[in-house]
Amino acid sequence: MRQRRTILDYKPDKVERRLLLELFNHAAYAPNHHMKEPWKIKIYEDQSRSAFGEKIVDSYIRLGLLKTLNEEKLKKARQSYDRFFTSVPHHALFYMEKEDHGGYLDDENYAAVCAFIQNFQLVAWEKGIGTMWTAKPTLLDKVFIRDIGLSPEQHRLIAVLQIGYPNKIPNGKERTSIEDSIEWKTEERDI
Ligand SMILES: Cc1cc2nc3c(=O)[nH]c(=O)nc-3n(C[C@H](O)[C@H](O)[C@H](O)COP(=O)(O)O)c2cc1C
Repeated sequence: MRQRRTILDYKPDKVERRLLLELFNHAAYAPNHHMKEPWKIKIYEDQSRSAFGEKIVDSYIRLGLLKTLNEEKLKKARQSYDRFFTSVPHHALFYMEKEDHGGYLDDENYAAVCAFIQNFQLVAWEKGIGTMWTAKPTLLDKVFIRDIGLSPEQHRLIAVLQIGYPNKIPNGKERTSIEDSIEWKTEERDI
């Protein structure tokens, strides 16, 4: 847990599919209410990465995230995003089926998928594999959800996880003392 780092820079080598499957199988031991096992994953590799990246950039444009760029700069930004998307061996998009239109059951399933993702990050790191958890407003963009073959009414997107062998491991980021986040309650009147 302490050694894992978010990785931005990857070696081009793919992680063997058999190993990815093994790690996802471990991750599935995440807690999940009523054993719903709500995690669904689309993995973009090889030729599909550019097209996936393009849909993401289309969404950034639609959402106004790149509105400060003129046409020339936008073209360059597209090329640079493409270099990024094709430099990462695997992009795993995590999503789930909606059950109660964004209500409590959906939150439970969302939480379980997040636990699954963290499990995956940790077991992958143990095998020398790095990851980067990304979540942007694009995950709520209905056009993007349809662009990748899902339905905004039926599906909730949760994260895109970049996966591959690290080329460069950044320095660790310190955490604040956990005592700042805890209140210990011991007396009956403590609430
Ligand atoms: C929900 C979520 C969304 C994140 N989105 C991004 C992101 O869009 N870009 C990014 O570089 N890192 C993203 N991260 C990774 C965090 O930046 C990273 O975990 C944090 O800086 C701590 O670094 P570490 O993971 O190396 O300890 C995200 C993490 C989470 C949990």
